[in-house]
Amino acid sequence: MGANWTPSSWRNLPIEQVPDYPDPNAVRDTEDRLKSFPPLVFAGEARKLKQSLGEVAKGRGFLLQGGDCAESFAEHGADNIRDFFRAFLQMAVVLTFAGSKPVVKVGRIAGQFAKPRSSSNETKNGKTLPSYRGDIINGIDFDEVSRIPSPDRQIEAYRQSAATLNLLRAFAQGGYANLDNVHQWMLGFVSGSPEAARYSQIADRITETMEFMRAIGISGENHRSLRETDFYTSHEALLLGYEEALTRQDSTSHGDWYATSGHMIWIGDRTRQEDHAHVEYCSGIKNPIGLKCGPSMEADGLLRLIDKLNPKNEAGRLTLITRFGHEKVEKHLPALIDAVEKEGRTVVWSCDPMHGNTISQNSYKTRPFERILAEVEAFFAIHNAKGTHPGGIHIEMTGKDVTECIGGARPVLPENLSDRYHTHCDPRLNANQALELAFLVAEHLKSDANDAAAKREAAE
Ligand code: TRP
Ligand code: MN
Repeated sequence: MGANWTPSSWRNLPIEQVPDYPDPNAVRDTEDRLKSFPPLVFAGEARKLKQSLGEVAKGRGFLLQGGDCAESFAEHGADNIRDFFRAFLQMAVVLTFAGSKPVVKVGRIAGQFAKPRSSSNETKNGKTLPSYRGDIINGIDFDEVSRIPSPDRQIEAYRQSAATLNLLRAFAQGGYANLDNVHQWMLGFVSGSPEAARYSQIADRITETMEFMRAIGISGENHRSLRETDFYTSHEALLLGYEEALTRQDSTSHGDWYATSGHMIWIGDRTRQEDHAHVEYCSGIKNPIGLKCGPSMEADGLLRLIDKLNPKNEAGRLTLITRFGHEKVEKHLPALIDAVEKEGRTVVWSCDPMHGNTISQNSYKTRPFERILAEVEAFFAIHNAKGTHPGGIHIEMTGKDVTECIGGARPVLPENLSDRYHTHCDPRLNANQALELAFLVAEHLKSDANDAAAKREAAE
């Protein structure tokens, strides 16, 4: 954070991806209203998440981050939230067991509304309109009125985030997330999967472990940690006027500033210019932050960004979310790891296997499951070879049975894409594909853990 940082100091700097609001006064009025609204999360929670991510950075945990590419107003409902949470928790159980480490659970949810676009206009059938930038900015329908950015949408996004967060808190702390429930759901998934035999290797061991714990008297009734979980929220901090309005000073910690729009926020690959607005804003808030790193990220540029975003080298402050594509990860990731290691920087390394693997099929944007898996596998292999910690995954997923990514054990075929293609932006893994990914990642975690144990034994 520079000496002159304030929640609004980003306004003096160049900025990318700004919506063209027709009435700047109306935007200011909206921001003033948001400033008077209660925070969505509080500073102590963001600090707790940072501490947990600090453990991940040191190799003692794993980060699972996932959710919609873009949340939408139209799909806001209890069933969607519940189904997402259900799929997400099942992934978390599998990964916890396989890695024998706590899984830090962070949703792309309750605030993930603003989307960066590669072009500010979109042309369809000879007609050109402003691009859709996410429901917090304009509407997805391809007509003039919908595409005009409206500040009222920020109020609606805030209200939807509050309602979503409220339900997630109830689920996480109110009994729904009980390990027994999640275990039963997971067994249901495994028995219905064409890969049941493969997944039951892990699933059966989890069952045995649960039965053993129950036999010795440890259960959700007498152990809070078995019936509750900590679940955090995150989104891309793209719409800085909204973020600024929800930036609040924490009275309990020497007046530090926190983004209270979500626990963790990240900087996108398109808005990470080191002297620009988004990096400036994020440099001054104390939340854990993410930085997306695509193929154009060079090692020296990354180190300069780390200097700006985490000058004190605080563990858990910075998560590098790498997204190269299955064919490019080998070329780009090793140099970034080497640079970070050489300078002794402590970061969480997380793999986003979604954004570098988007292709077009039958005029749909899609992502082949094998390529997603291939990028995650390469990420693990590269880190394991270097002795660094493959700290997490960042995925776009939903709890519904959508047909947006092709492949999987019960494969979505290119000709199925139109059946249930509901995303407001990028293609997401459906609930089965997401869980499958967790089981396949789990096989790696398990064998890595065994290798590490063997190495320890050999050294003794
Ligand atoms: N509290 C532990 C944790 O969050 C165990 C746990 C309870 C859990 N419910 C869960 C783990 C649901 C994963 C999913 O890790
Ligand atoms: Mn996306």
